[in-house]
Amino acid sequence: MDKFVIKGGNSLNGEVEISGAKNSLLALMPATLLANGTFTFYNVPNLSDIKTMLQLLNNIGVSTSMDMVKKQIQLDTTSIKSFEAPYEYVKKMRASIYVLGPMLARYGEAKVSLPGGCAWGPRPVDLHIDGIKKLGADIKLNNGYIFAKAKKLQGTKIVFNTSSVGATGNILMASTLAKGTTEIHNAAIEPEITQLSDFLNKMGAKIYGIGTNTLTIDGVDELYPTDETIIPDRIEAATFLCACAIVGGKIKLKNIIQNHLTSVLEKLRETGVKISTSENEIEIFSDSNIKVVDIETAPYPNFPTDVQAQWIALMSIANGVSKIKDTIYFDRFKHVPELNRLGANIVVKENVAIVNGVENLVGAKVMSTDLRASASLILSGLKATGITQVLRVYHLDRGYEAIERKLQRLGADIKRVKGEEY
Ligand code: EPZ
Repeated sequence: MDKFVIKGGNSLNGEVEISGAKNSLLALMPATLLANGTFTFYNVPNLSDIKTMLQLLNNIGVSTSMDMVKKQIQLDTTSIKSFEAPYEYVKKMRASIYVLGPMLARYGEAKVSLPGGCAWGPRPVDLHIDGIKKLGADIKLNNGYIFAKAKKLQGTKIVFNTSSVGATGNILMASTLAKGTTEIHNAAIEPEITQLSDFLNKMGAKIYGIGTNTLTIDGVDELYPTDETIIPDRIEAATFLCACAIVGGKIKLKNIIQNHLTSVLEKLRETGVKISTSENEIEIFSDSNIKVVDIETAPYPNFPTDVQAQWIALMSIANGVSKIKDTIYFDRFKHVPELNRLGANIVVKENVAIVNGVENLVGAKVMSTDLRASASLILSGLKATGITQVLRVYHLDRGYEAIERKLQRLGADIKRVKGEEY
């Protein structure tokens, strides 16, 4: 397992290219199961989660190729041989459950492992299962698997009591080939769901209300292969913005869609950093003299839970006391004890972190526990005096493309040490 060794104190300056969005591509790849033929995706990020999804689709019979120089992947779905998403993949990546809807809609059957635990949780899939049931599937749960069968899914009205990105994506994909019309109420409107909806319509689906909380889908008999360019990763962008805010400096993010970051930009401006935006670039200047700003995470377009850990890292060096509440995941705070090892002063009560800003952080060995928690440890390590070692960075490689190289190019003193557990 690799670790990062960071010598804190350098400010960040220069330009950084934001990669394609992991959470968009992880939905678009299973969507290819809805049609026969060859698909090409552009602006693909080189991430271990994408490789895991490729392996899962290979296991189903999709032939895949990945060219990371051109940032492209190609999928050919003409010879599907299995309708199973085994535990070995699903336990590595919860997004594997996205194959359930498309497989059931296209082939009438699916055997998908229930996701294992996550660094935080519980992360149930009841909304996925209930939605598929409502579309007329016969569902059985045993031995840790979802067994689903349906001769032909039937369009219906589905109301989600919780806004769920994954369940919205799964039911949306399933309903495109259902008989009749499906309405999805309280649908998630994250940009990744909007890209999925646009992609499905390019494949021949009939989805209306895209970008709103009510999606209407008129089922069609067949869908067709197409190509797509993945939208930029708004969470990676927010992570780099928080990094610059923490250590100071001036960086320009290229290849972003600024209105995907409205809530994060608004909160960052309240901290006193200077931000200017253009069509597909954001520039931030920080003297790392940070005002406290409370946040409360909520579904898009509100402040994303995937930036909560990075925000806590920022607030840990702010002037005063701040409150960070996660209303989506009540226990997504595994990064807090590790940040406190770096000298932060954070107390968690239920789903609220109370952060007492400190003068400075001091380098230490810290352990990554999940993707965004690891990012917060890196951000704090960039600021801490002395050496910080972030262990088990495979968590980061799931969702950040070559983050250490991007940070090095911005002036950070960070290096990857291969194969070191401690
Ligand atoms: C997606 O996960 C993202 N992952 C997550 O990003 C992100 O944190 C999350 O959305 C929230 O924005 C991908 O897109 C691959 P949800 P997902 O269903 O779809 C509850 C990252 O760091 N819920 O929107 O699994 C759930 O417990 C990852 O890139 C149910 O109750 O999240 C949570 O409280 C981490 N029943 C809320 O809904 C269900 O059946 C939102 O979860 C499903 C979800």
